[in-house]
Amino acid sequence: MINKIAVFTSGGDAPGMNACIRAVVLTAHHHNIEVLAYLKGYEGLIDNHFIKLHPADVKNLVYRGGTILGSARSKRFMEERFRRQAADNLKKEGVQGLIAIGGDGTFKGALAFEDQCKLPVIGCAGTIDNDLVGIDFTIGYDTAINTVVEAVDKIRDTAQSHDRIFVVEVMGRDAGLIALRSAIASGADAVLIPELKNDSTELHAKFETWKKEGGSRIVIVAEGDESGGAYKVAEQIKKGIPEADVRVSILGHIQRGGNPSCMGRVNAATYGYHAVKALMQGRRSEMVGLVNNAICFTPFSKAVKHHLKIKPELEELIKVLST
Ligand code: F6P
Repeated sequence: MINKIAVFTSGGDAPGMNACIRAVVLTAHHHNIEVLAYLKGYEGLIDNHFIKLHPADVKNLVYRGGTILGSARSKRFMEERFRRQAADNLKKEGVQGLIAIGGDGTFKGALAFEDQCKLPVIGCAGTIDNDLVGIDFTIGYDTAINTVVEAVDKIRDTAQSHDRIFVVEVMGRDAGLIALRSAIASGADAVLIPELKNDSTELHAKFETWKKEGGSRIVIVAEGDESGGAYKVAEQIKKGIPEADVRVSILGHIQRGGNPSCMGRVNAATYGYHAVKALMQGRRSEMVGLVNNAICFTPFSKAVKHHLKIKPELEELIKVLST
């Protein structure tokens, strides 16, 4: 029987984190479990900075972007002495389990924390990058790709009017899933992502056709691609097609903001609900995910492995649809 848990958000914020917090609080309340919400991720655990959350506190929260708890990429938490301090704080407050909402850095932090803190930790994947193993759609991903598609649609209007080639850089430090799905949805002419090694050669192979046909083009580049980003790609295009009018647009942090999409909220609520249930069932060191629409739990050690392979059918789809 558990009667007190803690929740926190950590790493880059992602739209839907608030919907997840709300689900945690309402599910916990339903089972008479008290919720301590730590502020600014692991920083709050170190400083024992928390608030108690009740159902009334999470009213009107489901649609809001960002995270009401604040977030951080804690450098102090990398040091053992601070992790020990955090563990002591949790023990003092009588916390029996933790729910960590964040991405790979957050779950790596939870793994490191196991030595100092013997409490069970369950993770809800909150990152726009979608770069975790054991989940189809992380909290924030769907909203982020919708933001990208909306932006690219607008860029397309001006690209078309001026016959320009636009290179649009999207987020994704180590992963190209934001770039890939938004490229499919926005009808991009080329996409460059870290997971596909010959995409740059394929881009160059298109130059002759683009030269001949003229008109506008949209190229989407993931920030983590080995090409070096949108400006470098624009230089390559200019070299290959000197007469082209090339422009760069870096979408940046707008991809992390805004109200979460419907699917983003549903996923976030599902993960939050199952995270509480998992703690009640005695699970630990796992991330909640939905794979093929079924709930599954993946050990943190596996979830953070960065060996995401792009599904061949997705790769084929973008190849056929980009010209
Ligand atoms: O949270 C993921 C992410 O948005 C990455 O896509 C991006 O590289 C990084 O965070 C940016 O982090 P920060 O906001 O700390 O600069």
